[in-house]
Amino acid sequence: MALERTLSIIKPDAVAKNVVGEIYSRFEKAGLKVVAAKMKHLSKQEAEGFYAVHRERPFFSALVNFMSSGPVMIQALEGEGAVLKNRDLMGATNPKDAAPGTIRADFADSIDANAVHGSDSLENAAIEIAYFFPATDVYTR
Ligand code: PPS
Repeated sequence: MALERTLSIIKPDAVAKNVVGEIYSRFEKAGLKVVAAKMKHLSKQEAEGFYAVHRERPFFSALVNFMSSGPVMIQALEGEGAVLKNRDLMGATNPKDAAPGTIRADFADSIDANAVHGSDSLENAAIEIAYFFPATDVYTR
């Protein structure tokens, strides 16, 4: 498997529940390294830009409002097969469908407030990491 990087966001609901450390622990146990990180309260504009690909979807404004409702924890993760590995750790988008033991099964309340974001492809991961981190702020460990 190839060494990859992916973008992860711990969303406002999970930050408010104080489970950032619990979620980081899952990354580490799965062999994913945090190579960049910051806490940030996104503006509506920043959230709209990040989710621009979903602009036409019916839930777009709900998603943007939620993602700008409180601070989020943003990290780039590095590891073997990091994109899929992080998606596996996250579980299904709707926590009702998420497998037991996944982050969303354990910490998400609803499809609107679903605890974490993770890039869905290597191509999007590169775009999303660059959206939040200049290359000089991503470290090789
Ligand atoms: S995914 O995970 O990207 O394959 O899921 P997708 O269904 O394409 O959803 C894209 C993002 O929109 C969020 N989403 C919603 N937000 C609010 N309300 C509703 N109903 C809803 N449905 C989907 C979903 O959590 C995805 O956000 P991210 O941050 O990418 O996980």
